[in-house]
Amino acid sequence: MPTPVPAIGSDELAERRARFMAGLGDGVALIPGARPRTRSNDTEYVFRQDSDLLYLTGFPQPEAVAVFTQDRFVLFVQPRDPEMETWNGRRPGVEGAVSEFGADEAFPVEELGERLPGLIENRRRLWHAFGRDRALDDRVVDALEKTRARLRRGVAAPTEVVSPFDALHRMRSYKSPAELEIMRAAATISREAHRAAARLCQPGRWEYELEAALHQVFRARGGAGPAYASIVGAGDNATVLHYVTNEARLEAGQLVLIDAGVELHGYASDVTRTYPVGGHYEGAARDVYQAVLEAQRAAFDAVRPRTTLKAIHEAALRKLVEGLVELKALEGDIDGLLESEAYRPFYMHSTGHLLGMDVHDVGQYAVDGQPRELEPGMCFTIEPGLYFGSSEEKSPDHLRGIGVRIEDDVVVTDDGHENLTAAIPKEIDAVEAWIRD
Ligand code: GLY
Ligand code: MN
Ligand code: MN
Repeated sequence: MPTPVPAIGSDELAERRARFMAGLGDGVALIPGARPRTRSNDTEYVFRQDSDLLYLTGFPQPEAVAVFTQDRFVLFVQPRDPEMETWNGRRPGVEGAVSEFGADEAFPVEELGERLPGLIENRRRLWHAFGRDRALDDRVVDALEKTRARLRRGVAAPTEVVSPFDALHRMRSYKSPAELEIMRAAATISREAHRAAARLCQPGRWEYELEAALHQVFRARGGAGPAYASIVGAGDNATVLHYVTNEARLEAGQLVLIDAGVELHGYASDVTRTYPVGGHYEGAARDVYQAVLEAQRAAFDAVRPRTTLKAIHEAALRKLVEGLVELKALEGDIDGLLESEAYRPFYMHSTGHLLGMDVHDVGQYAVDGQPRELEPGMCFTIEPGLYFGSSEEKSPDHLRGIGVRIEDDVVVTDDGHENLTAAIPKEIDAVEAWIRD
């Protein structure tokens, strides 16, 4: 089955580059790709391209570096190599970088060191983010030294080194219609995956069986796989925020928290649902679930253009604290409990983050010290939760070992918002029916 929507096309990639390059002035920008990482001895993790390079070029392969000026796009890539390609797969090479990926010029990546001084000379500003790729940093320092050494021959070296992140990540934080189509399709795949896993929420099943069901759908529907390590935590495991061991048995009466979303064409979905093992929310687990659901509703009510993630968090937090009082986990007046942060043992993360090519996407959260206003096209999550870990001494006995999170993916629209993951059930009756039917 083909993927449900196409990847970002070459026209949109070219348009992104044109906008990025128009902002470079008389500078030169370096955008490195990701490097392969060792998994064990001489085998590597499956390669995932750096999102910045992918955003600007679509180039999928390791060891690439893009160099931009206002009017030139140069790609350094692994050259064709029949022997290496026999082992590791085909490469577009220098020729493909030009013909398939629209570079004005391309060179083997081995030539980067020798060509860099020439690329940066007589440019006042070098756009480079130090600290991300140490090997490239060394090359940049080297190129600066070499260029400065030629001052007396009339060659000027850059006098400013500025990170390109602000400009690039601002672009990435507003999603285009094509990007939103991919994110909607990713949400649809994630829904199908959650459905497959929800059906397995029965006593005697194992967390990894649910994980396998999720991943089967992710890949079978053309996704790259999970956008982040899938979390499948039953009972007390649901109270560990980034629990990814996924090896325990599901027991009757537990809740199982599944935080899992597909990556499609380089875009993440990020979805959490908390399902009742056996198909019915009962007792204290039901009460905690209801409290989180109400907090999520309150957070959604706070979403409108120009609001902030902080305001959305505060709306959720107030409801969670009200819930904690009703659940008898806290006592006191709501404002006082908010002020003293008495809720922290049970709610220790924020209610949302930006979402896009990276699951915790790039983009500013604050501007001039103030929370950034959400504008149309920006995507983020809404993910309140309550966690009563067994090793948290403040967890009341009647709630101990219960963890709930409910997470949706949202885009701000001109007149409100769109919940990309709305079709994944979360109301109590709807979830119970999902598991049952
Ligand atoms: N799945 C990671 C998160 O929800 O932020
Ligand atoms: Mn999230
Ligand atoms: Mn998540």
